[in-house]
Amino acid sequence: MTRKIQIFDTTLRDGEQSPGASMNTEEKLVVARQLLRLNVDVIEAGFPISSPGDFESVRRIAELAGDQATVCALTRAVEKDIDSAADALKYCKRPRIHTGIGVSPSHLQDKLRISEEECLKRTAHCVSYAKQYVEDVQFYAEDAGRSDYDFLVRVIQTAIDNGATVVNIPDTTGYSLPEEFGRRIKYLMDNVDGIENVTVAVHCHNDLGMATALAMEGVKNGATQIECTINGLGERAGNTAMEEVVMAIKMHEQELDAHTDVNTREFLKASRLVSSITGMSVQANKAIVGANAFAHSSGIHQDGVLKKRDTYEIIDPADVGAGQSQIVLTARSGHAALKHRLEELGYDLEGEALDQVYGAFLDLADKKKEVYDEDLESLVNERDRNENAIYVLEGVQISCGFPLTPTATVTLRNQADQVVTACEFGTGPIDAMCKAIDKIVQVDNDLTEFAVQSVTRGIDALGEVTIRVTDPEGAIYTGRGSDGDIVVSSTKAYLNALNRLLNDKKEHRK
Ligand code: KIV
Ligand code: ZN
Repeated sequence: MTRKIQIFDTTLRDGEQSPGASMNTEEKLVVARQLLRLNVDVIEAGFPISSPGDFESVRRIAELAGDQATVCALTRAVEKDIDSAADALKYCKRPRIHTGIGVSPSHLQDKLRISEEECLKRTAHCVSYAKQYVEDVQFYAEDAGRSDYDFLVRVIQTAIDNGATVVNIPDTTGYSLPEEFGRRIKYLMDNVDGIENVTVAVHCHNDLGMATALAMEGVKNGATQIECTINGLGERAGNTAMEEVVMAIKMHEQELDAHTDVNTREFLKASRLVSSITGMSVQANKAIVGANAFAHSSGIHQDGVLKKRDTYEIIDPADVGAGQSQIVLTARSGHAALKHRLEELGYDLEGEALDQVYGAFLDLADKKKEVYDEDLESLVNERDRNENAIYVLEGVQISCGFPLTPTATVTLRNQADQVVTACEFGTGPIDAMCKAIDKIVQVDNDLTEFAVQSVTRGIDALGEVTIRVTDPEGAIYTGRGSDGDIVVSSTKAYLNALNRLLNDKKEHRK
């Protein structure tokens, strides 16, 4: 049997730190359910002291996970953070507190302004303080990738001596070269007493595009836990992508003497779900889950693949949930066919939810020759976005073109079931539409990003619009909308962003 590598997912903590990728509690629960389907070992559910929303997310994810996965909460090496994490994990079946401190010269001198001795003292204290609450304490040595080897040994030794069950070696700034990072892990394995009795984790960032390679070097040199996120989401350029490391381990199990227990068939669904909820698109050529990951366009490649798939394909698409179904859904398909296809895609819809998606499917099937899986996912996501919406779009009409002044008339329904219409001019159709919505919703914001992308191929494809808005405090909210008409998609996306902003304010007022 090869070594088991634990998969520690931090999509809901480090991933959520991506600008514009913030999720509310309900959205985090949807992602957490998918992480459980993926069968990850640990879910880092949030940073409880940072906000009431994060606290609540950790508490509810702990409840959801039961004893299927360890649920972890992040803290600084500060008592009140640890108290808050312990409180959020109070009823958790498998709780873990993740505490730690910066250890590089840059963090010690410029951020924390403390000596090495003080850092060691705080390391000992945060681990033993967390240990009063839970048995499973993970210690992170922030910016370990740029730290002095021997000082790092002393820090990790201190964490272990005080009861850490997991020691996390992050390359916080994504600075390291893979070979050197591997050497660092080996140095720790060779020089820290008792390290063989704890789990050694690697947490790598992608600033130089090497987060996956760094994590793999960690595994080769003794690490048995990888911290990662779906789609590689995370601070700045992101973290190690779960789908990449897990598939790399699966493809090279024997030479790495390593395996994971992840259900890889859930990857594509997880990727689309996280992308849809966060509004962070996945590039077409992204490894494993990108739209082109299994597409062959050159004649030579197509010829090879038709003769034998593995001439140009190292992974069976079905292994990551990307099996290409040829079932063609049309306007003549009934509820049963749609439900069946949705179930194959991993969506279990019943009753009103199914009726709503079926209605949207018929509208789309009337306009399109073929309805693809991506279209169906987009319709399901569109329905989910409308749940908990404070304002729902009832209608939008735009007139524009040369020499007209762009004009938008928007009708919205609020939660009190009142229907309000507003009409505005703008410099273009989108500007006019945003102004008309602003007139009704009246919430301060700046539209900072607008992107449109087609969901599938063909002139009749659904257009998916992603919009980012910033509130006066600088918080970023992402909205998405899809429709055959991109003006309608844009209206849905803008309204989705404002609904998220309003819901967030409501959640914080509680
Ligand atoms: O990148 C990092 O160092 C982190 C720690 C909090 C683990 O995210
Ligand atoms: Zn990180």
